[in-house]
Amino acid sequence: MKLAVVGTGYVGLVTGVCLAEIGHQVTCIDIDEEKVEKMKKGIPPIYEEGLESLMKQNIQARRLFFSSKFEKGLEKADVIYLAVGTPQYPDGTTDLTAVESAAKSIAHHLVQDAIIVTKSTVPVGSNEYLKSFIHSHLKNDVSIEVVHNPEFLREGSAIHDTFHGDRIVIGAENKQAAAVIEQINQPLDLPLVVTDIKNAEMIKYASNAFLATKISFINEIANICEKIGANVEDVAYGMGLDKRIGHQFLKAGIGYGGSCFPKDTNALVHMAGGVDHDFELLKSVIRVNNQQQISLVQKAKQRLGSLEGKRVAVLGLAYKPGTDDMREAASIVVIHRLIEEGAEVTAYDPFAMENAAPILPQQVWFAKTAAEALHDAEVGFILTEWDQIKNLSLKDVKDLMKADPIIYDGRNCFQLDDVRQHLIEYHSVGRPSIAGD
Ligand code: UGA
Repeated sequence: MKLAVVGTGYVGLVTGVCLAEIGHQVTCIDIDEEKVEKMKKGIPPIYEEGLESLMKQNIQARRLFFSSKFEKGLEKADVIYLAVGTPQYPDGTTDLTAVESAAKSIAHHLVQDAIIVTKSTVPVGSNEYLKSFIHSHLKNDVSIEVVHNPEFLREGSAIHDTFHGDRIVIGAENKQAAAVIEQINQPLDLPLVVTDIKNAEMIKYASNAFLATKISFINEIANICEKIGANVEDVAYGMGLDKRIGHQFLKAGIGYGGSCFPKDTNALVHMAGGVDHDFELLKSVIRVNNQQQISLVQKAKQRLGSLEGKRVAVLGLAYKPGTDDMREAASIVVIHRLIEEGAEVTAYDPFAMENAAPILPQQVWFAKTAAEALHDAEVGFILTEWDQIKNLSLKDVKDLMKADPIIYDGRNCFQLDDVRQHLIEYHSVGRPSIAGD
């Protein structure tokens, strides 16, 4: 089948590459010409495990193409995937500007009947609106159907998740259109949920909100564990063995970040408000997460009295390992706080520093290695559980830092027994603190 994908961000590019891999002929369209030229050569604009090699293979096999021109990209496409960003406005509502602009371009250049499949996460009701929006902008006598096919891909394992996902959700009002999308996905051999558009829109929001709820829940349990001297890791393990609860998303830390959970939870609270429902539970989830992100700095301030002039090494900036994405990363909140408190911050991340530099305060120094960041630091903050950080030798950490170093580990990267042996003062999340010398 001949497919087009509009938008080559995380979702669009991964979708395009994976659809080509399962045998379809795919043209990815992006208005950024420079980006398109690079992608034609097999250079992805984002870092995603396994993406570059899969992209190159499919370009070589002549199944994957790129274009900055809608008229060329949409040529003979039976199905057009729409995967542009849906950021949030400051009040938490969803900004549909990019979706509308891409939809308008599709409508202007469409010369054959087509199914438009929306991948972008959009508030309930948006796909219905989008269908009439595209209709009203069509330049030619063609008919369109809109299908919502939300993605459940995690950044960093998006390729793996595409081929080993738990389900494919297809929301459509038109049965034939739904059947075409089923057929496209058939080689993936994954469980299908075929439903109406509103349900599909809601499945996506409710899933992300539920996962965010699990994280805030375990973070609250972690905070209680700290007070009563329990260990949240043992507690989460014991809870997770209950199949109804499960082990996943019970890892306590400095809260969730990224381009999805913060945005989608806010949007769902707004959506609920719009139909006169006060989503109290989800509001608490968001509040707990905001507090969790600043809790480590508060602890450090309480412990040290003041952070003024303290040399602080921050290890890990990306919102999670395996990605260079800095969107809504807890490190942004933590580092702003540290700078406000007068700390001198040196930061290190194996992949995200280029994206971090324009976002973080100018006072932040970037180190080339974790060791360089730790050199002569008095306090260390661990904010992303990269292997490069988890595998640091605690002996080296202690030797590199000033005498009597203190570590605040927001991702529980080290075993408590290990830390004890190295006589480092260590505070993690939901586990007993270690006093050091
Ligand atoms: C999330 C969902 O997991 C995907 O299913 C969904 O498709 C995607 O959002 C989206 O809506 O596009 P993602 O944001 O890539 O994926 O990352 P996750 O792996 O879910 O992690 C999100 C945040 O939660 C990270 O900051 C991570 O550190 C944190 N987290 C995750 C925890 O603090 N504890 C956990 O146990 C799990």
